[in-house]
Amino acid sequence: MTQPKPKRRLAVITGASSGIGEAFAHAYAKRGIDLCLVARRLDRLEALAKILVDAHGIQAFAVQADLSKPEATEVVVQALAKHGRSCDILVNNAGYSLPQTFLGTRAQQQTDFVAVLVTSVVSLTHAVLPGMVQRGFGRIINVASMVAFSSGAAGHTLYPAAKSFIVKMTQSLSAEVADKGVLLTAICPGQTESDFAKANGTDQLVAKSGLYKQTAEEVVRIAIAANEAGKEVVVPGWPNKLAVAFMKILPDSLTAALIRPQAKKFALPDTKA
Ligand SMILES: NC(=O)c1ccc[n+]([C@@H]2O[C@H](COP(=O)([O-])OP(=O)(O)OC[C@H]3O[C@@H](n4cnc5c(N)ncnc54)[C@H](OP(=O)(O)O)[C@@H]3O)[C@@H](O)[C@H]2O)c1
Repeated sequence: MTQPKPKRRLAVITGASSGIGEAFAHAYAKRGIDLCLVARRLDRLEALAKILVDAHGIQAFAVQADLSKPEATEVVVQALAKHGRSCDILVNNAGYSLPQTFLGTRAQQQTDFVAVLVTSVVSLTHAVLPGMVQRGFGRIINVASMVAFSSGAAGHTLYPAAKSFIVKMTQSLSAEVADKGVLLTAICPGQTESDFAKANGTDQLVAKSGLYKQTAEEVVRIAIAANEAGKEVVVPGWPNKLAVAFMKILPDSLTAALIRPQAKKFALPDTKA
């Protein structure tokens, strides 16, 4: 009697319509993993799904969801159920930043930001984790940032706070479920080639900065390898590792004195859009 083919594993990737999320989609598809691609721009997700299905013979489907909305997690959960699939790998990647000051933005912009970068990560993780624990297998990669370790600066106000949350959440959850077959990793990139700066209008400023930059593919390669090795927090690239080591060793007052003048170069004037 022929055995039924085992189902391939499936990765849910948020923010898969560009940059680091798109690179995660390519990397997992190459490994023969099916994909559930989540973002707002459905046309881009569908085009990517088609490319990856054709190239790697996997299954992939796109889910249009605005992660700032409370119903977004349910939209993803329903889409998985409709396709009869469960989530084996979750990449909480979607994100952006608000380059103005806190008071230079509307409250709604800041609460939407927290909803996308923090609340939706909590909610999606809570939705898929029980299944991972039950099956004794799960992989969760949370895309944080090296600024999780910074002292904060004017502009991009809540970004370091949101990314610190992601790092701490990853560590605590790992302590709860690593022995149940679920491996969690917070990847903390520095400047990475993507649409991030274009999306927040700082692309000209970033282009001029001459800062060390990695490709999204490099960041993703390091993230997946670290996750498979069970590493909880990873900073990709030696220049970034060094900068984070300094941020951890130096007193906050000194880090602030060093970082804040530099950070000004990446902030935008206040406009309540
Ligand atoms: N690039 C860097 O230098 C850098 C450094 C450190 C950390 N990161 C982190 O890396 C992650 C990915 O960013 P990226 O650099 O790849 O930037 P990106 O190219 O601009 O990609 C951002 C992704 O997030 C999605 N997204 C934004 N708002 C969303 C919303 N409300 N609902 C659903 N999806 C949303 C976007 O899709 P739609 O617009 O189609 O919704 C897009 O797919 C972010 O968490 C970012 O904070 C980036």
